[in-house]
Amino acid sequence: MIVTDPHEATDVIASGSLCAIPTETVYGLAADASNPDSVAHVFAAKGRPTNHPLIVHVASLDEAMLWIRELPQWAIDLARVCWPGPLTLVGPRTTRATDHITGGQDTVAVRVPAHSLTLKMLNELSLRDIHGVVAPSANRFGHVSPTSAQHVAADLGDYLTAHDGAILDGGPCDVGVESTIVLATGDQPVILRPGGITRKTITDITGLPVAEQGTDAPRVSGALASHYSPKASVQLINAEIVASLTTGGLIAFREISTPVGVTRLAAPTTIEEFANSLYAALRSADEQHLDVIYVVTPQDEGLAEAVRDRLGRAAY
Ligand code: TXA
Ligand code: MG
Repeated sequence: MIVTDPHEATDVIASGSLCAIPTETVYGLAADASNPDSVAHVFAAKGRPTNHPLIVHVASLDEAMLWIRELPQWAIDLARVCWPGPLTLVGPRTTRATDHITGGQDTVAVRVPAHSLTLKMLNELSLRDIHGVVAPSANRFGHVSPTSAQHVAADLGDYLTAHDGAILDGGPCDVGVESTIVLATGDQPVILRPGGITRKTITDITGLPVAEQGTDAPRVSGALASHYSPKASVQLINAEIVASLTTGGLIAFREISTPVGVTRLAAPTTIEEFANSLYAALRSADEQHLDVIYVVTPQDEGLAEAVRDRLGRAAY
């Protein structure tokens, strides 16, 4: 079921089955976006409510415009610089973006992922007249997102095996947290979900302030209060209290030492390492049957915003 050749992934998707794919953020569970039956399988495999919209993954900005009707110039600038990369643009949909994908909304979310195997697959699919795959994170609904093929197999292996699916193994994910979702329907960027592209990068490229999410903004399922959750309880703590811990798991920057009795789950030295080791650390706590995971929350701006967002939801 685990394959390493993108041609095999292309065949699986073209046949209408599901294939988990590597991206720079997390693994996605991909299906032919133009095949409603395949898209329906994605919801079934994840146990995801069908009104939660999916991101369409495409090979290029040109292909993105098959799904999005129009983009303001600032969003085109953003796409030109950031794609392939951890940016998702939400724009007005074309007729190609059916209700199965958008959950009935009149907007659609699209991105070009930065992973060589997945880009090969997307380009091959294009030649076979399949111009995009939907791909939510390849975990059971509400669980921690997968950053390796093994994580996908743990959550969805049985379903994929039973339904002629596959996992394209592209190694561990670089970024480790999901893409930044930007609403691109107005004069200014609006971040709907913080992620791998920082607020500062968006401002630097567009020259525009980045607005907060409005109350009438479209749904983002990753924005559910409780999400990205391991079985263990996640507790966010300050560095000062680490020394008093006697049990449980610990995720913190390396400079913070591990007290006796505590299981160190990750000891990153940079915020990039923090992000790309976080989900594996949460999963490993469950494998080791720990009841509680203590996390010393990173306080900076930039990628730390996405890390804090996910930790807040995991802890909820
Ligand atoms: O990094 C990522 O974005 C990963 C990889 C696999 O590409 N994908 C991912 O997909 O995180 P998922 O389904 O777990 O989260 C996508 C989010 C959902 O929360 C969904 O609600 C939101 O995108 N979304 C999709 N279409 C939308 C729309 N039209 N308006 C607002 N949000 C939308
Ligand atoms: Mg997800």
